[in-house]
Amino acid sequence: MATLGLGLFLGGSVVAIPVVTGVAEGVQHQKKQNEEAANETRMIKFNLDVACENKSVKGAEDVDGGIVVLRHGKVWIVPADPETRTPISPQGHESLSPPLHPFSGFYIQYPDEDRCPPERGLVSTISDDPPMLNWIYCNSNTYALCYGNRTASISHIVGEWDWTDDESALTLDGFEGFVAVDEGEDEAGERDGLRWAVYFDRDDDGLGKGSRVGGKRMLEVELLRRVHSEEEQKRQLEEADKKMQVKTQGDLKSHFSAPARERQMR
Ligand SMILES: *[C@@H]1O[C@H](CO)[C@@H](O)[C@H](O)[C@H]1NC(C)=O
Ligand SMILES: *[C@@H]1O[C@H](CO)[C@@H](O)[C@H](O)[C@H]1NC(C)=O
Ligand SMILES: *[C@@H]1O[C@H](CO)[C@@H](O)[C@H](O)[C@H]1NC(C)=O
Repeated sequence: MATLGLGLFLGGSVVAIPVVTGVAEGVQHQKKQNEEAANETRMIKFNLDVACENKSVKGAEDVDGGIVVLRHGKVWIVPADPETRTPISPQGHESLSPPLHPFSGFYIQYPDEDRCPPERGLVSTISDDPPMLNWIYCNSNTYALCYGNRTASISHIVGEWDWTDDESALTLDGFEGFVAVDEGEDEAGERDGLRWAVYFDRDDDGLGKGSRVGGKRMLEVELLRRVHSEEEQKRQLEEADKKMQVKTQGDLKSHFSAPARERQMR
């Protein structure tokens, strides 16, 4: 029995994602899963840009052409610099510390033996230093997109994440039902000025015709994969490597085996 260990440093703990081959039963099924889990195409990192067709809603100009960022446990949309495609901090919150962290992630099987068949999950870095990955999930009560470690995410909707046929846009449960919800100005101060939160219209009814979000303004959005260029991926690997070398002095080495496949890609 051969094991291809994919070690991922997820939310403070190393999660070995078991990818087992050669078991007599269900070999074919397992084999497919292994290929999927180890599929380098699936594991190419991307950012998420935002497109919003309906420009008639107030605030759509902030969302259309924006970028997805992660903060305060949730997934948000902020405007992006058109040249560099980096997030622009909300007005009055220009010098955030840490700065806004753009979604930067890839697909990988969610490690949960109780999910049968296993579901394809989605991870993103939540900080570059230390390089830390979290799961992106849909809160099964509020339908808000959130991020967190395995413990935080396991009871929620963690997949099946996928892409559209042309691989250009993100889907969940085979559906592009993402909605930007204006969480309002009132408490925005406490959220570093963030306003547009991303939700998943799981029941395809406009979030219960808006009732799920208390009638807040909503915009249907497309989340577009912007795949990192080869140079960018190489640069990230080198940076991650440097950071790991610093941190692995001492005997922490095994804790920083991650992300293993990123190393394999070289
Ligand atoms: C996972 O997240 C939960 C809450 O989100 C936190 O309490 C817990 O400490 C985290 N676990 C690890 C191993 O970091
Ligand atoms: C990996 O995914 C790509 C895109 O879906 C697909 O074309 C390719 O066949 C997959 N490779 C394997 C080994 O499954
Ligand atoms: C745009 O959004 C407004 C307000 O939500 C809605 O009334 C209108 O039908 C939408 N238009 C399109 C083309 O979706």
